[in-house]
Amino acid sequence: MAKNKLMYVCDQCGYESVQWIGKCPSCNAWNSFKEIRVAPVSSKKNTVSIASSFQGNTSSVKPLLSVKAAQQQRIDTGDSELNRVLGGGIVPGSLVLLGGDPGIGKSTLLLQLVLRLKQMKVLYVSGEESENQIKLRADRLRETNPDLNSENCYVLCETSLEKIYEHAQQMQPELVVVDSVQAISSEEGDAFPGSPSQVRACTVSLLRFAKDSGIPVFLVGHITKDGSLAGPKILEHIVDTVLQFEGDRQHFYRVLRSLKNRFGSTDELGIYEMREGGLTVVSNPSEMLLNRDNAGMSGVSVASAIEGARSLLIETQALVSTAAYGTPQRSATGFDTRRLNMLLAVLEKRVFFKLAQKDVFLNIAGGLRVSDTAIDLSVIAAILSSNADFPVPESTCMAGEVGLSGEIRPVTHIAQRIAEAERQGFKRFVLPKNNMRTLDTKRVKIELIPVSNVKEALKSLFGGE
Ligand code: TYD
Ligand code: MG
Repeated sequence: MAKNKLMYVCDQCGYESVQWIGKCPSCNAWNSFKEIRVAPVSSKKNTVSIASSFQGNTSSVKPLLSVKAAQQQRIDTGDSELNRVLGGGIVPGSLVLLGGDPGIGKSTLLLQLVLRLKQMKVLYVSGEESENQIKLRADRLRETNPDLNSENCYVLCETSLEKIYEHAQQMQPELVVVDSVQAISSEEGDAFPGSPSQVRACTVSLLRFAKDSGIPVFLVGHITKDGSLAGPKILEHIVDTVLQFEGDRQHFYRVLRSLKNRFGSTDELGIYEMREGGLTVVSNPSEMLLNRDNAGMSGVSVASAIEGARSLLIETQALVSTAAYGTPQRSATGFDTRRLNMLLAVLEKRVFFKLAQKDVFLNIAGGLRVSDTAIDLSVIAAILSSNADFPVPESTCMAGEVGLSGEIRPVTHIAQRIAEAERQGFKRFVLPKNNMRTLDTKRVKIELIPVSNVKEALKSLFGGE
């Protein structure tokens, strides 16, 4: 038997080294290197038998131009959000890793998926739950959604990867779900299930299985706060697609993001709501994120943001109060704290608002994490509105990036942002002056207020000098 090779992998970023290092040269994490045993490459014994029953696997060199692009038939998941995040459906032979905190709803999402796919023979493997638990959950889901009644869904409670392959070979499924990578183990890896070595060996093996057989595989992976136990980072470059399921447990909705996708764009976003009867697709997120009762209150303003390819109206809330103890606090939920500090510095320096002795708390309502810089303007408006205890005019929506010299910089997709505000019944839209050049104003019914710097923006919102 060939000897296993020892390797060290950073469980934060996946950096590999032949010797143990205290500090990762790639991501600077301390004490993040874990020993893993890499099995010799030739150990194809597990998948080779099942693969050969599907298709031959011979390679040859040919000119790229002569390669016939096979129209890749994607599998429709019957879930508009999941389709969108996957880039148009499931690609045959792909390995999709679904990551997320424990209890966020990964198993629920996948169980709903397989129960909806009636025409497909599905093998749902769980190493975490018993048949009984899965059945109970399926019944619960079916109570509110009678459509989830596929007779082609088979469950298997098993933790040995080799046994899973055996069953797969017997039943020849068209889709395999494995829940979760931390619970299964392979003879190829050493140590116990969930260790970096096992997690990696299982994932590599499943990738080979998916590629050789053409069967798409969904793999669940738990992520811990520091990513250490689960080591999902070391899996990211093995799999084809990494989906992350996130959300706040206090809130009902969940966001499905694609972090990596070999078959589609990575800035797509799927939004779900976790209800008693499982996850339901949210087709109009703005309606859910906006709290109309807050209209007329100080410290609240509405921004038109773009996440992925869709526009959402989000509510930014700020609370500014005199610092009770020495150092003022700055805290942001759903928004980058460094960017908040930058915006506060701009307000201090360019419009001479004295905020240095104030506590500033910022919150994106609903718990959504927003990376779109076009909400800067709305953040500033909310802060000053709270500071002056004066509400932002009703029915006003805004978008604009704030630059270091206090200029309001143009934003992308302005027409789409305005259209969303119109759809939600807003009457005024504050936008960067530079965006006016490219905008077809004849088609806009909402009142447009172009501004070129923070001062102008504040004047148009709050009046005065
Ligand atoms: P689960 O899918 O088990 O999470 P994961 O696999 O990511 O660990 O989701 C569990 C949570 O979802 C649990 O807290 C209960 C909640 N839930 C509902 O609110 N409604 C439902 O219909 C189901 C099935 C679960
Ligand atoms: Mg689960």
